[in-house]
Amino acid sequence: MGTPVNCVLSLFLVLCSASKAYGSNICTSQGVTTCQQCLAVHPSCAWCFQEEFGKGGSGVSRCDLKQNLLDEGCGAESLEFPSSTIRLLKDTPLSSKAGGTADDVTQVRPQKLHLTLRPGDAKRFTVSVKQVDDYPVDLYYLMDLSYSMNDDLFRLSYLGNKLAETMGKKTSKLRMGFGSFVDKTAVPYMLIHPPEAIQNPCVKRNRTCQAQFGFKNLLPLTEKVARFTEEVKKQQVSSNIDSPEGGFDAIMQAVVCKEKIGWRPDASHLLVFTTDANTHMALDGRLAGVVQPNDGCCYLDESNVYSKSTVLDYPSLGLITEKLSENNINLIFAVSSYVFSTYQEYSKLIPGAAVGMLSTDSGNVIPLIEEAYDKIRSKVELEVLGVPDELNLSFNATCLNGEVLNGLKSCSGLKIGDTVSFSVEAMLRGCPEGKSHTFTIKPVGFRDSLEVTVDFACSCECEARAEANSSLCSGGNGTYECGICQCDPGRLGPHCECSLEDYTASDDVSCVSQADGPVCSGRGNCLCGQCSCHASEFGQVWGKFCECDDFNCLRFKGEMCSGNGKCDCGLCRCNAGWTGENCNCTKLINNCLSKSGLLCSGHGYCECGKCQCTQPGAYGDTCEICPTCPDSCSIKMDCVECLHFKRGKKYADNSCNRDCRNEIQVVDELDIPAFQDAKVTIQKNCSYKDENDCVVRFQQYEDESGKSILFVVKKPACPGGPDTLVVLSAVAGAILLLGLVGLLIWKLLVTIHDRREYAKFEEEKANAKWDTGNNPLYRGATSTFTNVAYRGN
Ligand SMILES: *[C@@H]1O[C@H](CO)[C@@H](O)[C@H](O)[C@H]1NC(C)=O
Ligand SMILES: *[C@@H]1O[C@H](CO)[C@@H](O)[C@H](O)[C@H]1NC(C)=O
Ligand SMILES: *[C@@H]1O[C@H](CO)[C@@H](O)[C@H](O)[C@H]1NC(C)=O
Ligand SMILES: *[C@@H]1O[C@H](CO)[C@@H](O)[C@H](O)[C@H]1NC(C)=O
Ligand SMILES: *[C@@H]1O[C@H](CO)[C@@H](O)[C@H](O)[C@H]1NC(C)=O
Ligand SMILES: *[C@@H]1O[C@H](CO)[C@@H](O)[C@H](O)[C@H]1NC(C)=O
Ligand SMILES: *[C@@H]1O[C@H](CO)[C@@H](O)[C@H](O)[C@H]1NC(C)=O
Repeated sequence: MGTPVNCVLSLFLVLCSASKAYGSNICTSQGVTTCQQCLAVHPSCAWCFQEEFGKGGSGVSRCDLKQNLLDEGCGAESLEFPSSTIRLLKDTPLSSKAGGTADDVTQVRPQKLHLTLRPGDAKRFTVSVKQVDDYPVDLYYLMDLSYSMNDDLFRLSYLGNKLAETMGKKTSKLRMGFGSFVDKTAVPYMLIHPPEAIQNPCVKRNRTCQAQFGFKNLLPLTEKVARFTEEVKKQQVSSNIDSPEGGFDAIMQAVVCKEKIGWRPDASHLLVFTTDANTHMALDGRLAGVVQPNDGCCYLDESNVYSKSTVLDYPSLGLITEKLSENNINLIFAVSSYVFSTYQEYSKLIPGAAVGMLSTDSGNVIPLIEEAYDKIRSKVELEVLGVPDELNLSFNATCLNGEVLNGLKSCSGLKIGDTVSFSVEAMLRGCPEGKSHTFTIKPVGFRDSLEVTVDFACSCECEARAEANSSLCSGGNGTYECGICQCDPGRLGPHCECSLEDYTASDDVSCVSQADGPVCSGRGNCLCGQCSCHASEFGQVWGKFCECDDFNCLRFKGEMCSGNGKCDCGLCRCNAGWTGENCNCTKLINNCLSKSGLLCSGHGYCECGKCQCTQPGAYGDTCEICPTCPDSCSIKMDCVECLHFKRGKKYADNSCNRDCRNEIQVVDELDIPAFQDAKVTIQKNCSYKDENDCVVRFQQYEDESGKSILFVVKKPACPGGPDTLVVLSAVAGAILLLGLVGLLIWKLLVTIHDRREYAKFEEEKANAKWDTGNNPLYRGATSTFTNVAYRGN
């Protein structure tokens, strides 16, 4: 629980990411006090109703992730943790062809579902829809018979048979019916002057018409489609005053009078509405003093005439839509060009409606109906009836070729026999009234539907066992419910142990941990001398003075106790394998071992799984790189000394076995050993001088298989005594040679100097003018002085 799996809902993402830190999570941070509130916080929250639970009873959240509650010692049988489920109740496979009785035709699968949803949780299911072949069709033709429809009526009387024939190609089970409308028989819609106009509204036009009427069901749906033409031929137009007609009254009656019209429950229902004028809508009736709203009921009298035409107002578009959907009727507006755009707008508001443009005399009505029918049948659109506000439904449609359309609940361009499916996600956002609710998902215009019953998992079972005046709550001062006391008014405390009247300020003294300190560390209320700690949005607060909590601990990289321990009253309690103040220090040393198995290559120590290199100049993850360290030869030298020669300082202090995990092999001569199968990691020739000045040569060998061998040459090379004569003569010779070289250099320098001086002398001699007047050394014997005070005269 509490894993990111539960965080599918973006709504809770932020909170969930906060819940990673131990101690504080979405469940504990909300300050909930009852089981019911707990369930509403998040689908991952559980409630513990065990009597003895938590640290000292105060500040501990009974609402937590399920696993945390179990860890805290709550028994599994004391948990309230309903989970969201989904169950198929009826799942009859889709039919391929309409059977003899349409009852066994299935076009929607599944048919019944049962959901249990926690608030904030979502469940997904799939609905498949298939339009079966040769499905029965009911077509009811509703015609405006106002005066301007005269030519249309005439034309339709010829087209009736053709219409039946065309539709007969689509289905072998066709029924047709016919009805007509004008408008409400009330002023100002109706002609009443001259008085004859009431019977014959066309009297001024020197013609005979039929009296005005609201709606007449002239031919209920029948298989004898020939009667359609007969009935149309019998009709006469009527007339009224204003331009809009009462078409919506007629639609409403045609839709809701199921028996009188004869809609078959298991057929496709087409209602063709032809008019050349706009229609009156709800509230228009006020002009005629008709104020009672339309109630969407059937009022056809024995003669199949709408009897409440002048009593009820016109229906609204919304009411029509609702009734159409309830009765699975597809409306086809076949309207003339002047009002085409108006009806197009209407059709956008009515699911499953189509619009076609009628020529002036309705000559094109057959292709128009055919096209509209095909359009209706080529589209499957889901509608949802009766969903509570708290339930969000979202859809993805999988239409032809497995193409997925996100957020859509309709598919178009289908042929009869195609199957499409819809993925539906139901998410409960809150807790609606009541414990459960049933709603319906169905394709528009289909009889088949999916019925979904949702149980809202909003309340706890333990609430049913609540005990009023329970002895657990201070001898009957509260209701014991789901593990906690709900105190009666005037009582306080976790067990309702104190009464408001008994409260005195001096009680606060025992709620203060140090003089002048805050009451209950500022994180609780002092009730009758006891701290009742506040629930914190970060986690639990407890302790005699509410001084403890499980969220004020050292953090490392944003995670409390580095995510490796629990916070307990300000201190991290590390999980096994971890240590340190903030539990960020692993006890594992795997990462400190060098390839040769030496901890930090012998150049450092292991701390928190990392090598701390102590040898100056050593670095690398396992301090394996160290150019300035005594090289491996010098280290192994001691091993050779102690392992092979049984001497040296490692032999003396007995550290040989600990530090030298090598095998020693004595060889005559160093050579490449013949271990060809493993990869060699170290192979190095070394030599050193031992205490006897003998040169010991050995080879260090290691490979990946872990072999570590020191090949030692059997005989150290010991030198003989040095030759004194050779040494003496060599020294004397060297001194002699150095003296000679020194003399030669001195001689050379003196000669060069002399030559330079002589050349200078020669030059000066050549330049000299040796006459006495010009003796450069001669100075005259007279001196001249100037008397500064002398002004001459
Ligand atoms: C109707 O007939 C009357 C007399 O027969 C005639 O005066 C009147 O003009 C006619 N009205 C129309 C609209 O043709
Ligand atoms: C639920 O539906 C409402 C309106 O249909 C929408 O505003 C809201 O964002 C939806 N909530 C979720 C969580 O999908
Ligand atoms: C619809 O598809 C989107 C994107 O693939 C996915 O996030 C969403 O959950 C789907 N919704 C349903 C109801 O399957
Ligand atoms: C609980 O006690 C109150 C008053 O003491 C009493 O009125 C009420 O009936 C009791 N309820 C139950 C269920 O015993
Ligand atoms: C409430 O508790 C007090 C003391 O614990 C007790 O005297 C009193 O009778 C209780 N009240 C009820 C209604 O039981
Ligand atoms: C552990 O945390 C301390 C204090 O934040 C930090 O100095 C130290 O480097 C951390 N150790 C490791 C191994 O991350
Ligand atoms: C070690 O010395 C032997 C014999 O002189 C030689 O064959 C071998 O190649 C040397 N090995 C290395 C790694 O220098």
